Amino acid sequence: MLGLGAPTDDAWVTAALANLNAVLVDHAHCEMKAAANALSLIARYSMRPPVARALADIAREESDHFERVLVLLGRRGLALGAPPVDSYAAELRRIAAAHRRKGASHIVDRLLVGALIEARSCERFKLLVAGLAASPSSSSEHTELRDFYAELLAAEARHCRLFVDLACESAEQDSGEAGVLSRLAWLRGIEADIVVRLARGNSRARIHG
Ligand SMILES: [Fe+2]
Ligand SMILES: [Fe+2]
Repeated sequence: MLGLGAPTDDAWVTAALANLNAVLVDHAHCEMKAAANALSLIARYSMRPPVARALADIAREESDHFERVLVLLGRRGLALGAPPVDSYAAELRRIAAAHRRKGASHIVDRLLVGALIEARSCERFKLLVAGLAASPSSSSEHTELRDFYAELLAAEARHCRLFVDLACESAEQDSGEAGVLSRLAWLRGIEADIVVRLARGNSRARIHG
């Protein structure tokens, strides 16, 4: 899995486990946005069928995740509701755009930001799996959620790698792989700062809160 600049603190797991309903609602929105993002990226690769197919696969997989979270919401009597403000992703995109050098590729940043979001989701799903496994409650709901997140974290790690590979390919005409990896290292630091800042807030029961 792609490295992250700062690990999630233990308080996030505690808050998430204490409010699984809120986590699930937020998670549903994350999957919906991930599917929409993969679909919209296809337009950028319309002349490259293998890449378009790989993105279509991601979109299908994210839609499947979304649908499965919706089923979990339904069983708990929860509504999806309106999408919450996503400060995490918005900040990451805003800072990336504000510090993009003149002429640098927008698509490379878009892919790298996508990769970091996938990496953070993956890390948090892993923490949820460990937290649910250690929970004194051994309800079938907990077991089901644990298995669900264990499956999803492998998929999100795969998406993360694909986005980094695509960014490296897309930069061939630009700064090359070395430039992409250097940009990724910088964005990783920005992402870590955002996560640490959000951790001081009150809305921890979110996938990227
Ligand atoms: Fe997903
Ligand atoms: Fe994903």
